[in-house]
Amino acid sequence: MVYQATASAPVNIACIKYWGKRDTKLILPTNDSLSVTLDQDHLRSTTTSRADPSFTKDRLWLNGTEEEIKPNGRTATCIAEMKRLRADLEAEKPNEPKLSQFYVHIASKNNFPTAAGLASSASGFAALVKSLASLYQLPSTPSELSLIARQGSGSACRSLFGGFVAWEMGSSPDGSDSLAVEIAPREHWPEIHALICVVSDDKKGTSSTSGMQRTVETSTLLQHRIKHVVPERMKVISEAIKKRDFNTFAKITMQDSNQFHAVALDTDPPIFYMNDVSRAIISLIVEYNRVSVDAGGPLKAAYTYDAGPNAVIYTLKENVKEIVELVVNYFPQANQFKDPFGLFGSDGVQGNVVTGFNTAVAKPFGVGAVKNLIHTRVGDGPRTLGPEESLLGVEGLP
Ligand code: DP6
Repeated sequence: MVYQATASAPVNIACIKYWGKRDTKLILPTNDSLSVTLDQDHLRSTTTSRADPSFTKDRLWLNGTEEEIKPNGRTATCIAEMKRLRADLEAEKPNEPKLSQFYVHIASKNNFPTAAGLASSASGFAALVKSLASLYQLPSTPSELSLIARQGSGSACRSLFGGFVAWEMGSSPDGSDSLAVEIAPREHWPEIHALICVVSDDKKGTSSTSGMQRTVETSTLLQHRIKHVVPERMKVISEAIKKRDFNTFAKITMQDSNQFHAVALDTDPPIFYMNDVSRAIISLIVEYNRVSVDAGGPLKAAYTYDAGPNAVIYTLKENVKEIVELVVNYFPQANQFKDPFGLFGSDGVQGNVVTGFNTAVAKPFGVGAVKNLIHTRVGDGPRTLGPEESLLGVEGLP
């Protein structure tokens, strides 16, 4: 008998940023956060887990290379927590095989290159937890599984749901109420699309984990953010999502990205995640919105940046074409735009700029400043996949 399961999980990009832990071991945050789950058809992690009495230790392979599972590290914690849930189930159902006592082999891969500069820890830990939940046949809800994925990487807890997801910080010292909840499923607002601008970056940046700890220790602005800014923004953006009010959604998303980078700057020593290319993209989006607002219209796009220079631009489907044209005008592409939604005909992207746009807001960059453009949209939560998607061979090795 082979005990094995394969699952995939999506990437999520926050509109209200998680930045700061009140408990670094349990990964309990200093504020609530909220994200949009992106479509797994374009970006996902896939993980296969197998339990077998012949295995001699827990082992993990990422994109084909074996990684050490550090004792008491984040991966070890997630595996131990999942085995604990399985042991509870076995105690209730004595006829179930004792999978909780077997070691596991876990193989995981991303369908996007790590070099793309996109964080893979969120989708990676969500896929790990989901594949173990399927292997162990656990009845756990996505929120229950989010409690465990959170201990792998904070933002991973939000990848247990599709659509629009909040991570409630909770108040319990044991972390039992620090979990993800669905604000709305993707079907509620499928017109939300995202354009990821992969920005070239040579220098090794500050990791989220160490960066946010330094911010907690040194930034006074973070304290203001936690107490007086995030609670109100969570309410307003959740309402905006429920009402499909893109103007408010965009306003809050941009403000919160700005404040996250402001608390990074307020850290001692300061942390810079955005670069000149990131800031030029902000200028383009601000001017693009100004043209709409001056004509009496709403905001049409929102930029947001995580702990690196890549831009994620949220917009409605109807505006994606204009935005791709605009970005390509300033950031010429070496490769043809991969057009998954068929927005462009055979002529491809022309680099057109909307009427009334003040082209002086940014200077044009050379080829390669924006390495790649990925067009995706709001997506669904983790999926359990069939055996044909397995990443482990008959011997239980990749
Ligand atoms: C800027 O979840 O990567 O992307 O919990 O230490 O693993 P750890 O940090 P991580 O931090 C993500 C920070 C962020 C904002 C966000 O996703 O909310």
